[in-house]
Amino acid sequence: MSLKMDKKLILEEFKNTASIEELEKIRIKYLGKKGLISLEMKSLGTLSIEQKKIKGQELNIFKSFFEKEFNNKKNDIEKFVINEKLKKEKIDTSLPPREFNTGKIHPISQTIYRIIDIFSSMGFSVKSGPDIETDFNNFTALNIPNHHPAREMQDTFYIQEKVLRTHTSPVQVRTMLKSKPPIRIIVPGRTYRSDSDSTHTPMFHQVEGLLIDDFSTMAHLKGCLIDFLKDFFEINDLKYRFRPSYFPFTEPSAEMDIAYSKKDNVLKFGEGDDWLEILGCGMVNPKVLENCNINSSKYQGFAFGMGVERLSMLKYGITDIRSFYESDFRWINHYGFSPMNLTSSTGL
Ligand code: DAH
Repeated sequence: MSLKMDKKLILEEFKNTASIEELEKIRIKYLGKKGLISLEMKSLGTLSIEQKKIKGQELNIFKSFFEKEFNNKKNDIEKFVINEKLKKEKIDTSLPPREFNTGKIHPISQTIYRIIDIFSSMGFSVKSGPDIETDFNNFTALNIPNHHPAREMQDTFYIQEKVLRTHTSPVQVRTMLKSKPPIRIIVPGRTYRSDSDSTHTPMFHQVEGLLIDDFSTMAHLKGCLIDFLKDFFEINDLKYRFRPSYFPFTEPSAEMDIAYSKKDNVLKFGEGDDWLEILGCGMVNPKVLENCNINSSKYQGFAFGMGVERLSMLKYGITDIRSFYESDFRWINHYGFSPMNLTSSTGL
């Protein structure tokens, strides 16, 4: 087959081509090793110098023309193929999304989000402090002096002069030292004690609460905690009681219990004749206010502290505290919360 350098013919060939494969055949026909243009190029050697010049130039122009048209056609075909694909792969937005399987929210996080949610609706803001505390913040400022037996009850891990905090109460001290009343904070966070059995883990979580102003009383404290527990457990006529207790940093001090009953192994909250301890609370001891440079004849307030694991176990029916920290996928799949279904307005 000899080459007719007819541009029309080439355009015609491209026009009748619909696939990349066919196009490739045309390329080989012209530009392959034994292609028409390649053979012509080779045959230039047999011509005289004059003819070689003329024919060579013509061939080069023709080759450039071919390549340009070839690339145009290739682009057209590729665009066409993509458009066809897009048409076929249209996304059906009316289909419900597939269940995400990217992980679950741990019940401890979910419980903390819920607690933050409820207290922020009452005007409390969220504060945090370091896990490694000074002895002063963790004990002394909270009216737990060196010799005090409460130190032993809260045995902890000492790191040189510092302690792994035994409760979130030191953040009360940090906040009062830094800011002036009115103060209204909650403090979720990790706490540490040298304890380990089916109801204790060396690390656990607490949420602390502190409110300081010049008028709040024990009645406000009670109202605040009752509202919180009703909301948290979603029980409107919750049966509860406040029991006198002792904490060095509050005076008077109380513990709050909620009623429960157990019949045929079914646990019911908010009713019944047995009591479950839920949290500790009280009016902030004036000594603590003074330790934190707050005038105790002008200001007063209340504080409370609750265990997050305990609240979480009661709410979600979890029986062994150690299971929170075993990183068992089956457990987290069962007790965890889908990030897509969180009810918390914290949005986490
Ligand atoms: N810090 C106490 C504990 O870990 C809990 C507590 C009780 C905190 C009474 C308070 C409070 O703020 O008023 O056992």
